[in-house]
Amino acid sequence: MEAKQFSKTAMGTAFMRAYHATHDHPKIFDDFLAHRLITEVEHRHMEARQIELFQRLDPARAALCPDQASALACWMQTWAPPPIALGRARYAEDILEQAVQQQQVKQYVILGAGMDTFALRRPDLLERLQVFEVDHPATQAHKRRRLLEIGQEPPAQLHFVPVDFSRENLADALRRSAYDPQTPSFFSWLGVTYYLTRAAGFATLRAIAEVAPAGSAVIFDYLDTDAFVPERVAKRVQIMMDNVRRLGEPMITGFDPATLAADLAAIGLSLHEDLGPADIEARFFAGRPDDYHASEHARFAWAVVA
Ligand SMILES: C[S@@+](CC[C@H](N)C(=O)[O-])C[C@H]1O[C@@H](n2cnc3c(N)ncnc32)[C@H](O)[C@@H]1O
Repeated sequence: MEAKQFSKTAMGTAFMRAYHATHDHPKIFDDFLAHRLITEVEHRHMEARQIELFQRLDPARAALCPDQASALACWMQTWAPPPIALGRARYAEDILEQAVQQQQVKQYVILGAGMDTFALRRPDLLERLQVFEVDHPATQAHKRRRLLEIGQEPPAQLHFVPVDFSRENLADALRRSAYDPQTPSFFSWLGVTYYLTRAAGFATLRAIAEVAPAGSAVIFDYLDTDAFVPERVAKRVQIMMDNVRRLGEPMITGFDPATLAADLAAIGLSLHEDLGPADIEARFFAGRPDDYHASEHARFAWAVVA
């Protein structure tokens, strides 16, 4: 990410969450507030951009769509990345909710939060949770401005912690905030590993192991290393990579599922679950009446502080 620019991909995932919440049934993940964080102008711009991409990358299928609405629906379901953005959010919040109900966690740290709406969407869980949104300073400043513009006061339980994962240590930044290192915590780190170097990614995971008590959990998504091999990458994922590179946020890092458990163990995390595309399809997409399917190469991991 460029130092002074807020994340365009964060706006892109908010657009996908908003689109799904208002157009699709049943919901994979219902972010019914996402649309509030996108202005009308941004919305129109992103919609036009998706349709332009569809017409350029799959003109034959685009030509079969009778209107813009059906073209957008077809693009979102076949070539765009909503399945990754929606699936990972559902996965993380399902596990979080269970941990809160069982009183296992009292702090939720959202790393690379972007336009995440959890703290506004789940006032019921805020009775039992302190929430920390950790994000790149430029993206976080943009989000806070947007909350002001829409007249949305952040709840008292929401704490903002600006951090650039490429330059700063997450543990140091959390220690400077209201975060309590003794309290069992739940971390989500969604849609971020791709954009960091492997060293910065593992430094952030190591910081979680350092700053959170044993039993605390982190959920993150990642691309497998095949996604970065030109002759192996699936077309849908290549389209996503080309698209975000053009937005100035290139995807540069994947993890190897075969070594992930050992790599995490070396930094104090135990891999509890690692869902591949077939698992994700079975859990979140099977039996849908539309064409949303789990994405190739994308995986959801759940690790626990040892
Ligand atoms: C694709 S968005 C994901 C947003 C949200 N987690 C979601 O799933 O919709 C990527 C997020 O990673 C953050 N990010 C990327 N590079 C970062 C860095 N070096 N330090 C901190 N945050 C970073 C961006 O600011 C942005 O919020």
